[in-house]
Amino acid sequence: MSDNFPLNNEQLKELVKKFPTPFYLYDEKAIRENMREFTKAFSIFPVFREHFAVKACPNPYILKILASEGCGADCSSAPELMLSEMSGIKKDHVIFTSNETPASEYQLAYKQGNIINLDDITHIEYLKNALDGKLPETICFRYNPGSLKHGGVNSIIGKPEEAKYGLTRKQILEAYSICKKEGVKHFGLHTMVASNELNPDSFAETAKILFELCVELKEKVGVRIEFTDLGGGLGIPYRPEQKKVDYNVVAKKIRALYDQIIVPADLDPLGIYWECGRPITGPYGWLISTAIHEKHIYRDYIALDSCMADLMRPGMYGAYHELTVSGKENAPKTEVYDVVGSLCENCDKFAVQRSLPKIDMGDLVIVHDAGAHGRAMGFNYNGKLRAGEILMREDGSYKEIRRRETVEDLFATLDLTGVADFN
Ligand SMILES: Cc1ncc(COP(=O)(O)O)c(C=O)c1O
Repeated sequence: MSDNFPLNNEQLKELVKKFPTPFYLYDEKAIRENMREFTKAFSIFPVFREHFAVKACPNPYILKILASEGCGADCSSAPELMLSEMSGIKKDHVIFTSNETPASEYQLAYKQGNIINLDDITHIEYLKNALDGKLPETICFRYNPGSLKHGGVNSIIGKPEEAKYGLTRKQILEAYSICKKEGVKHFGLHTMVASNELNPDSFAETAKILFELCVELKEKVGVRIEFTDLGGGLGIPYRPEQKKVDYNVVAKKIRALYDQIIVPADLDPLGIYWECGRPITGPYGWLISTAIHEKHIYRDYIALDSCMADLMRPGMYGAYHELTVSGKENAPKTEVYDVVGSLCENCDKFAVQRSLPKIDMGDLVIVHDAGAHGRAMGFNYNGKLRAGEILMREDGSYKEIRRRETVEDLFATLDLTGVADFN
């Protein structure tokens, strides 16, 4: 767990008076400081850019903060492309890494001048048809190295050869060759084969695979790759015993490979791009809830006023999120609870058999490391209304950057005027 929650119990209670729980809280200062650390580590490359994975925290206020720290965006849908554009992240600072993409989304990315990252060899023709018979000047391909990536099975992405993403080793050279013949002028190469990975060697291995492929593409196809996108996948220490990835170590390992493979092949300067989400906002966002019920049956349960519809990761992946009880951070962990929400699903558990201090009704419970793939993955099953988002500014003031959903939001797609007369 990143032990960095910025408010003591008194401060949090004050905040809750203004913004009732549940809500997400983000810390602007911490997001900026971490982003600067990340950028500094990778400034050892001639060309570097982080394209924040918008899906991790699709809020334009957060995107504007990141844009002002030099970030681009990685998008996977038309709404994400629009969010990036409205946040001032434009043109080639946006990479569109969707996968089974409809024509209309390619058209929007093209219109906005964003970089399109294709997920399959058949998408070349599809894209060409979507763009009235032409291809963009710049094309990137998502490469799936299959069994060439040894880093083990990743619980979120799975084994590369079983994952639905990307072009195979056999297809990738042909794909660039087709695009070259079609007159495409600039090329990128992308992969994403890990998720929440804490081992720096895994990223070095990924970089090596990409760098070697750049050389092969130059030699066999005559295509010069101008940037490699290492994807996301840099992990964060969700568990108390885990440590934050040292960005300097990752950057230096990749730089050594760059000097060994890219420089002698005369491919320097090669842009080094990331599209991380989790390490950029994850540790700097929290879900704040109130304990509203306790129940003692075969197990002891504490129920919060939020539920899995607000934070899906524990229920969906069995993901671990550290929980603390505000004001009881140093109290002895005398109880073992399942901490749950109100959804009619038994996987609606923020924590299972977790040692915690005794929780009283009304206590404020903090779910840590919820700033990425948190609110964004929420849903409305059971008619649940998702929590809003509060930003703690650098000067300590607060801004509600997304309000809590209302019943009107939930019913907005229904034609309620017709219901009474419908038989
Ligand atoms: C294509 C792509 N890029 C980037 C990311 C961001 O990954 P992370 O948030 O783990 O850094 C994801 C996550 O799902 C992804 O699918």
